[in-house]
Amino acid sequence: MARSSIKRIAINTGGGDAPGLNAVIRAVTISALNRGWEVIGIRDGLNGIFLPDQYPDGGLIPLTREKVRGITHLGGTILGTTNRGNPFKYPTKRKDGTMYEKDRSDDVIRAFKKHKIDALVAVGGDGSLTISHGLAEKGLAVVGVPKTIDNDLDKTVITFGFDTAVSFATVCIDRLHSTAESHQRVMVVEVMGRYAGWIALNSGISASADVILIPEIPYDLQKVAEKIKERERQGGHFTIIVVAEGAKPKGGSLSVVSKELGRAERLGGVGERITAEIQALTGKETRCVVLGHLLRGGTPTTFDRLISLRFGAAAVRALEQGKTNVMVALDPPTVRYVPLEQVTGRMKAVPLDCDTILSGRDLGISFGD
Ligand code: F6P
Repeated sequence: MARSSIKRIAINTGGGDAPGLNAVIRAVTISALNRGWEVIGIRDGLNGIFLPDQYPDGGLIPLTREKVRGITHLGGTILGTTNRGNPFKYPTKRKDGTMYEKDRSDDVIRAFKKHKIDALVAVGGDGSLTISHGLAEKGLAVVGVPKTIDNDLDKTVITFGFDTAVSFATVCIDRLHSTAESHQRVMVVEVMGRYAGWIALNSGISASADVILIPEIPYDLQKVAEKIKERERQGGHFTIIVVAEGAKPKGGSLSVVSKELGRAERLGGVGERITAEIQALTGKETRCVVLGHLLRGGTPTTFDRLISLRFGAAAVRALEQGKTNVMVALDPPTVRYVPLEQVTGRMKAVPLDCDTILSGRDLGISFGD
């Protein structure tokens, strides 16, 4: 879409929230207003535009300078978000009461036309960007902004939200050292990250964990028990284990909490699972702490604020330059644009030969293998 034809853009935030969302909203809004464009915020992913009946007060929020004032440092999203709103797989009831996933994407396209919205800045992770890619293929001008605490999106060095999550996890693990040492216990800390081990790896190394279990390296608890016993022999009567929610035993399966129609499976429970097994294997009192959604809250770090603001402004520049069906990506020292089709449906796992893992091994950390 050529620059002159843009009059009105929308922004939405989809999937799990992440620190930095409000900073992106502010950057997009101010950058667009400065170009004379109108900016509309869509509530709760795309629900605000394609399910108007659910929003008696309006699913679309005109974004003004006043609306975005003073929000850069706030966690969450002023627009709301959801991971249940995929219009391509909308859970729908049949006459016989059974449910199926219906493609309602044409309703979304129609709604954008009805509201005379020329383009969308879609802020999200793989799920939301896959939806955005689908809408772009149907003719909507879309620029994606990579969000997720999990850092598992391909083609960007980092996603915003990750640094804040890792920083907080590091502080939490730091705090567990003193209680673990005082009670001579094994402490297991479960962190989010879905199918990737970035949060566990980076926080575990930063906070001097003894064992880090990530999805990319299936674990053997015998090896973990050996590490704990070796520490005992060397006078270390406590052990800190960081486990990613997506970690799984060698030849075993993921710990899944639930799988519902129209949304991604929920992971969790691996921490408790290995806690019992480690206690049985070592005879040492072992306790589990699940950091869970605490990693998604709080004020974004300076790093996350800055890349969020840079991503938001760069998304508006992309639209101005007529770029669409792309994602803003961090490629230090700059941001660049990558086609959405190169991003979606992939996952950026931790490479086994990356220097962070090699350094962890050099530091004596066990990866349970
Ligand atoms: O993708 C971010 C994330 O926090 C994952 O780390 C986690 O598996 C998932 O979202 C949890 O989502 P929900 O809050 O919907 O259970």
